[in-house]
Amino acid sequence: MSDKEYDLVVIGAGPGGYVCAIRAAQLGLKVACLDKRGTFGGTCLNVGCIPSKALLMASEKYEDAAHHMADMGIKITKASVDLKKMMGHKDKVVNDNVAGIEFLFKKNKVDGIKGAGKIVSKTQVDVMDEKGKVTQSLKTKNIVIATGSDVATLPGIDIDEKQIVSSTGALELSSIPKKMIVIGGGVIGLEMGTVWRRLGTEVTVVEYLDKILPGMDGEVSKSMKKILEKQGMTFKLSSKVTSAKASKSGVELTVEPAAGGKAEKLKADIVLMAVGRKPFTENLGLDSVGVKLDDRGRVEIDGHFKTNVDGIYAIGDVVKGPMLAHKAEEEGVVLAEHIAGIKGHINYNAIPGVVYTYPECANIGLTEEQLKENGVEYNVGKFPYMANGRARAMNATEGFVKILADKKTDKILGAHIVGAEAGTLIAEIGLAIEYGGTAEDIALTCHAHPTLNEVVKEAALAVHGRALHV
Ligand code: NAI
Repeated sequence: MSDKEYDLVVIGAGPGGYVCAIRAAQLGLKVACLDKRGTFGGTCLNVGCIPSKALLMASEKYEDAAHHMADMGIKITKASVDLKKMMGHKDKVVNDNVAGIEFLFKKNKVDGIKGAGKIVSKTQVDVMDEKGKVTQSLKTKNIVIATGSDVATLPGIDIDEKQIVSSTGALELSSIPKKMIVIGGGVIGLEMGTVWRRLGTEVTVVEYLDKILPGMDGEVSKSMKKILEKQGMTFKLSSKVTSAKASKSGVELTVEPAAGGKAEKLKADIVLMAVGRKPFTENLGLDSVGVKLDDRGRVEIDGHFKTNVDGIYAIGDVVKGPMLAHKAEEEGVVLAEHIAGIKGHINYNAIPGVVYTYPECANIGLTEEQLKENGVEYNVGKFPYMANGRARAMNATEGFVKILADKKTDKILGAHIVGAEAGTLIAEIGLAIEYGGTAEDIALTCHAHPTLNEVVKEAALAVHGRALHV
């Protein structure tokens, strides 16, 4: 067993960890990045963002072919689904991306190591195989914990990944279920529910709160519920699942009103558990080196991602903040730069969130509810997709862009989009926020015609009551 010496050992090769490793190597540090999964890329690439987008894209094309292309004069005799091939498309997308990370590690001279990392001291990480046998000891000046998160479940409900599945199992179903019940009307529930609904499954979402997408602007969550209902998804709000029992004939759930009351039984072939994720901190040796966790089980960090132990840092889902791949990436870059002795930049007010349903919805900055709570005075500019020529040409007239700007300074405080390509459109507003931009800055910027981006420009004009096309 050889002792190798590094400037930095990163535990976890998800979007936070592998990007941190690459950036540190670019800056001249000697870096190792390890992952216990056997393939690099973390949850996002292996069983999260990327495979779900492959299935969302494929199922959207199927739905278009089966139901919507005829509206544009394209006749398709009978569109049908070859699930095995669709899953093959998803697997290829994942494998190609995984190979991409291996390539990037080689190119940047990062030692990519397959094995679980255990922190032995602030200068040593041991690498273990699946049986827990130590295969290597790595000496290092710095350690980054980038171990991400794991699926959360409800008490007494066991995820078997066959009938009661997490997002991982929902990406692997071998046949199209007749009926699926999704527990949790958040991002995973709506994205994976959408995939299977499009392929023919009857989908019911049971949500504890009185609205879906609880973190989003109220208007967005209301509008998304209406749109998804029109597409055939059913919602049971203000309801909690108290038990789920799987048997040969399916899964039986007990559901009660969230406020208490009479329980009812629901049945489904597949139940998808999507009630959130929890930070992953198990078997990392954190106790033995004294790394502190906060009251929600996340690794506690200071303003420079440093834990309470010198030389040990943490980023991504395992620390506070939204559990988003791009937030983890940004943190990885900034931390690598900090360790290399240069100043990095991250703006937590300008991190977009996107839900990849159809239409997509996206947000950045504060919601109207948060502005009201904080007593901030603001102007609202809103513009519908319906009034945009390109959206009409695309048959994509559902949705709106809403921009919230400070009443005195006109600075953009938040933006919320429901509509086709919302996730792409939100980037323009992110850039404006980064530059300290105002609604007027966007309104005065020439946007190509005819594009969906004009909806953003018109919403910015609407902040001052001067939209042109409504
Ligand atoms: P989430 O936090 O987005 O949604 C969980 C939902 O479950 C909430 O609406 C919550 O009110 C509800 N819930 C909680 N307990 C419940 C109960 N007992 N019964 C019924 N409903 C209950 O979590 P989700 O969807 O599991 O996603 C996990 C993480 O992954 C999130 O942080 C999310 O941001 C991230 N993610 C991001 C994606 C994206 O950016 N497109 C895609 C998928 C996941």
